[in-house]
Amino acid sequence: MLLLHLSDVDEASWAEQFRSALAPYRVVRRGDDFDPADIEYIFVWKPKPDAFDGLTGLRAVLSLGAGVDALLGHPALPAAPIVRFVDTDLSQRMSDYVVAHVTMHHRLYTRFQADQKARRWSQLYPPAASETTVGIMGMGVLGQDAVSRLLPLGFELRSWSRTPKSIAGVTGFAGADSFDDFLSGTDILVNLLPLTAETAGILNTDTFSKLRRDRLAGGPVIINAARGGHQREADIVSALADGMLGAASLDVFETEPLPADSPLWAIENCYITPHIAAISNEQSGVRYFSEIIARHRKGAALINVVDRERGY
Ligand code: NDP
Ligand code: OXD
Repeated sequence: MLLLHLSDVDEASWAEQFRSALAPYRVVRRGDDFDPADIEYIFVWKPKPDAFDGLTGLRAVLSLGAGVDALLGHPALPAAPIVRFVDTDLSQRMSDYVVAHVTMHHRLYTRFQADQKARRWSQLYPPAASETTVGIMGMGVLGQDAVSRLLPLGFELRSWSRTPKSIAGVTGFAGADSFDDFLSGTDILVNLLPLTAETAGILNTDTFSKLRRDRLAGGPVIINAARGGHQREADIVSALADGMLGAASLDVFETEPLPADSPLWAIENCYITPHIAAISNEQSGVRYFSEIIARHRKGAALINVVDRERGY
């Protein structure tokens, strides 16, 4: 039996689609009449504290999110393997966000927006894409999709990951020891890391101070589409104010929803979106997890299982 436990999304709609994809396998929601011991799979997003109570027969936890940091922090998380969402539709949506914000900043959007407001005709030529380096932190599923879409646009690309990567057209850096080298040639820093003990707070003053400063007029730029826990918002506020950063695009925040009194709202060169960079699509999510359940029930191994030791 599959149990759905989803917050902040239309659980009823997901349940209906799972029922038709998995029939006659039973799909239930909280409040339905079932014995928790019969649940083999639980599909979760933002699980409540009692989400896993009584699930003694659980075979896998299925995560609607690609990021599992919050799930790993659940105080009653069972030992069953966790399968995270990996999907071409999700990757496409994230790359849409990344490409939009990279190209916006590369073409000095902040500068020309301000000039337009001031009715000021002031010619300033942005560097060519080939003179601009985008550095992507995190070269997993989403990072690799993003570089595949930025490469044809002509940007210089570099990546930073935990283990070395060899990707055509991308200069790879790996591990903490190479972080400063990676930053020193980066004009636009994109964060697509998972949130772990090692990556928490990585977008801070020290990191910003090491970015390349002589390429983009206005200063280097950060784009955070991963988790709010990666960023020190007070550091971003002061870096945008004193010119250490030229601009920031933020999709995620230390506290979500972003509180109305956050100073970030009012900063002209800070571009805020409400954690919408990439939504897990219902149709492809149901297809992906239904296949995983069907295959696993026939004896196949689970795929995209989270490594709890690494934290992602
Ligand atoms: P993956 O697990 O596929 O990739 C993670 C990458 O980060 C890997 O390249 C990994 O290195 C690297 N990494 C992990 N820890 C470190 C470290 N300490 N130092 C350097 N590199 C490190 O994740 P995804 O690409 O699928 O997703 C990334 C994140 O995006 C998710 O965790 C989630 O938080 C976020 N996200 C945000 C969304 C939004 O709407 N804003 C939507 C979906 C996801 P290695 O390759 O060596 O293992
Ligand atoms: C995710 C997210 O992790 O939506 O999938 O943030």
